[in-house]
Amino acid sequence: MTDKQAKLEIGTDSLDLPVLQGSCGPDVVDIRKLYGSTGKFTFDPGYKSTASCESALTFIDGEEGVLLHRGYPIGQLAENSSFMETAYLLLNNDLPSQGELDDFTYTISRHTMLHEQLMQFYRGFRRDAHPMAIMCGVVGALSAFYHDSTDISDPDHRKISSHRLIAKMPTIAAAAYKYSIGQPFVYPDNSLSYTGNFLRMTFGVPAEPYEVNPVVEKALDRIFILHADHEQNASTSTVRLAGSSGANPFACIAAGIACLWGPAHGGANEAALNMLKEIGTPDRIPHYIERAKDRNDPFRLMGFGHRVYKNYDPRAAVMQKTVREVFDSLGVKDPVFETALQLEEIALNDDYFREKKLFPNVDFYSGIILSAIGFPTTMFTALFALARTVGWVAQWNEMISDPGQVIGRPRQLYTGPTERDYLSMDKR
Ligand code: CMC
Repeated sequence: MTDKQAKLEIGTDSLDLPVLQGSCGPDVVDIRKLYGSTGKFTFDPGYKSTASCESALTFIDGEEGVLLHRGYPIGQLAENSSFMETAYLLLNNDLPSQGELDDFTYTISRHTMLHEQLMQFYRGFRRDAHPMAIMCGVVGALSAFYHDSTDISDPDHRKISSHRLIAKMPTIAAAAYKYSIGQPFVYPDNSLSYTGNFLRMTFGVPAEPYEVNPVVEKALDRIFILHADHEQNASTSTVRLAGSSGANPFACIAAGIACLWGPAHGGANEAALNMLKEIGTPDRIPHYIERAKDRNDPFRLMGFGHRVYKNYDPRAAVMQKTVREVFDSLGVKDPVFETALQLEEIALNDDYFREKKLFPNVDFYSGIILSAIGFPTTMFTALFALARTVGWVAQWNEMISDPGQVIGRPRQLYTGPTERDYLSMDKR
């Protein structure tokens, strides 16, 4: 809290509202007492001006293009950390010692297998089901298989369910892929890294040995770091809202996966690559730029623009660099990457995009690299969900451990009919 007060005047009434100050970012006007004191609500669809919670995990300065996890810049984490270490950091507030990291990695590796009956659950899905549809279903079903860790008032249960979710997500995502292509499931190999294990479960087959490519492993691990958390985005807010009613964490993360699926959120990586492929060659870029600018055309440049970033998304910068590194080391040449680079340059020099502060976001380049690694586009959002599970779980834990936590229950501006009497069928 600061000693600043905000004064709200409604007609002849006035109300002093406390102004809260975080460690970084804008001050926040505390309106919690507004309704009780004035009988009025605020109106903010899409939460464009509303802080929905207090959080110490992740900070974004959208104007400056800054993203910090527990204070550490995303660029430094992507360069120096690993996904397991970043997960530890998000869950525990500080970077681990070597012993703490080893213990954490070991614990996660002990939870990678799925209940065998859950593996049979897959067979109920159509063969051509989208992996995100399978993820929603299978993750939700975890609560039916792991009852023993669903008492959210017990910190040990919260910890075990968090570890289970982080550990099982690669197994669930890889199995969704294997099922869709009709190959046998590959069981986890805990001697591999978190990311190496996922690569093997996705691209390996039981009939042959699989060797993890260290360049690909490092690049994918970095992609996971870039997606680990992003403060109160739509899916994280969904997880928090679902969790605020006391729902178990498996159900809450399934809700987050459903929200992430949309093309305005996590589904944008799939949409961005599809768009780049549709554009095809650089000479067709101007046509698509004109379409994106046309108010009568619903087309948008996918992978461009962000609710919070009004500057270059720092994750996009790391992603672009990673594409170059992987392509150089694997000797890949992809015309789609050239199209993306040129599209970015043209858009960044176009008045429409400059005035609206539309820059590439994390999804603009991620699809290109995931495709080069061998993932089909339908798996892109599933990979996002896998990595974001760490953030969802950390945010859910933060919320549940807060003694002041209450159920989330927004109000509304009602515009429907006023009270009227029921009409019998013959009078309508
Ligand atoms: N292409 C063309 N115009 C755009 C775009 C775009 N990608 N994004 C925003 N605009 C325009 C929009 O038409 C609007 O114009 P006007 O003021 O004339 O009506 C203005 O910019 C503001 O857009 P908005 O939709 O009000 O902004 P928002 O904050 O509600 O939406 C967004 C943010 C990410 C949903 C939007 O930029 C978008 O749809 N981008 C494409 C989808 C995408 O890449 N999503 C991934 C986001 S990053 C990954 C994640 O966190 O999930």
